[in-house]
Amino acid sequence: MSTGIFVMSFCLAKLVGSLIGFCYASNWCRTCHVYFKPEDYDKLPVISSEELYHIKRDPGQVIGSSRLGCQIRLAKNMEGMEVRLPERTGPGWSEE
Ligand code: FES
Repeated sequence: MSTGIFVMSFCLAKLVGSLIGFCYASNWCRTCHVYFKPEDYDKLPVISSEELYHIKRDPGQVIGSSRLGCQIRLAKNMEGMEVRLPERTGPGWSEE
């Protein structure tokens, strides 16, 4: 497993779904929104208030284990974790 790269970048490299990094990890577009398993959530780096704010801007997509993939670097302790994508990830996210 490659460590140190962002989850978003890893997903892009694997060409999954329509996940993109529209704002290039500037933490505002939410196109990199991903879901982790609830049991893995506490193993992730602590969510910043800014990331939390942006995730909550689309309440229809938020679940308890939502994160922005561009804000999390892959680490050894994440080996084996599953990442899922919201149905609406990618171009066409609702505007506020
Ligand atoms: S790439 Fe825009 S918020 Fe993550």
